[in-house]
Amino acid sequence: MSKTALITGITGQDGSYLAELLLAKGYRVVGVVRRSSTTPYERIAHLVDRIELASADLLDQTSLTDVVQATAPDEIYNLAAQSFVQTSWKQPVLTGEFTALGVTRMLEALRKAAPKARFYQASSSEQFGKVVETPQRESTPFYPRSPYGVAKVYGHWITVNYRESFDLFAVSGILFNHESPRRGLEFVTRKISDAVARIQRGLQHELRLGNIDARRDWGFAGDYVDAMWRMLQQDTPDDFVIGTGETYSVRDFCHAAFSTVDLDYRDYVVQDEKFFRPAEVDLLVADPSRANHELGWTPKIQFAELVRMMVEADLERYARLR
Ligand code: NAP
Ligand code: GDD
Repeated sequence: MSKTALITGITGQDGSYLAELLLAKGYRVVGVVRRSSTTPYERIAHLVDRIELASADLLDQTSLTDVVQATAPDEIYNLAAQSFVQTSWKQPVLTGEFTALGVTRMLEALRKAAPKARFYQASSSEQFGKVVETPQRESTPFYPRSPYGVAKVYGHWITVNYRESFDLFAVSGILFNHESPRRGLEFVTRKISDAVARIQRGLQHELRLGNIDARRDWGFAGDYVDAMWRMLQQDTPDDFVIGTGETYSVRDFCHAAFSTVDLDYRDYVVQDEKFFRPAEVDLLVADPSRANHELGWTPKIQFAELVRMMVEADLERYARLR
C-alpha cells in the first residue's frame, strides 16, 4: 500500500521539490492550494498530472480540517507560509496569521481528522536571528529579528507543545537557507542570479542590493526536502537543524555569480537603503552534526555548484525567451 502525503505550500519552491521526491518514492501526493483568480502553478506544472490538488487556506480552519479528513494522509508537510522576511515588517499581522497561527490550525486539523498522521513543520534558521552562539544547533536559544522570525518561533513551539500535549508524531525541521533555480525572485540569491543573466543580455545595467555583508549558510533545496522526509521516518519524533555548516556573505555570492560569466560584481552592484532591513540577521551557520549522524543526511550540492546551477538556469531561461 502506497503512503499518502499532504503538502501545504506545494506551489512554493520546497513544495515542488518535495512532491517530486515523494512521487519517486511511490507516494500518493495531495497538495493544498489556495483559491486564486489565476493558477500560479509554474513550479509544479510538470507534476500536475501525477498529483492531486485540494483547495484550502491557512487562514481558514474548516477548509484545512476538511482537506485532512478527505485525504486521510500518513504524512503532513506544513510548508505554507508568508516566507519573505522583508514583507513581514510591512504585513506583520498577516505574517502572524499565516506563519504562526496557520501552524496551530494545521495541528488542530490533524488532531481532529488524522491524529495518527506524522506532521512536519517548516521551522527556520531565522529563529536564531541575533545569534547567541555559533554555529547554531538544536539547543541554541532563539532570538528572532523580524516579525517572520517571531512567527516561526511560535510555529516551532506550538509543534513541540502539541507533540508533548497530545502524543502526536509532530516535528520541526530548523532549516537554514536553501535555494534553487525555483527560488522566488525577491530572495537575494535568485535576485542576483537573475540579474547576472539580465546584465549579460543587456536587459539590466546595475543590481541594487541592501546589506551585502550579511552571511548565510546556503544549501540546495532539493537536498533539504530529503531531510524533511527522513525526519518523518524516525522511530521517535524529534527536531533537527539542517544546513551545510559553511557560511558565505551576500558579497561572496555576488562574486561567484558574476564570475560565472566573467564579470566583476563591483562594476554592477549598488547598495540601496531601500533593501536594508529594520533589524538584520548578520550571521547564520549550522551545526548539522545530529542530522548527519541520526538521519544519515548530508548535503550533496556545495556553494559553488549551487551558484553556478542558478546562474546557468537563468541564462537558459532568458535564452529561451528571446
Ligand atoms: P515559498 O516558495 O515562498 O512558498 C510558500 C508557499 O506557501 C506557497 O506555495 C504559497 O502559495 C503558500 N501559502 C502562502 N500563504 C498561504 C495560505 N494562506 N494558504 C495556503 N498556502 C499559502 O517558500 P519556500 O522557500 O518553499 O519555503 C517553504 C517553507 O519553509 C516556508 O514555510 C518557509 O517559511 C520555510 N523555510 C524556508 C527556507 C528557505 O530557505 N527556503 C528556510 C527555512 C524555512 P501561493 O503559491 O498561493 O503563494
Ligand atoms: N531579499 C534580499 N534582497 N535580501 C538582501 C538584499 C536584497 O536586495 N540585499 C541584501 N540582502 C540580504 C538580507 O538583508 C539578508 O541578510 C540576506 O541577504 C538574505 O536575504 P533573503 O534572501 O531575503 O533570505 P532570508 O535569509 O531573509 O530568509 C530566507 O531564509 C530563511 C532561513 O534562514 C527565507 O527563505 C525565509 O523564509 C527562511 O526562513
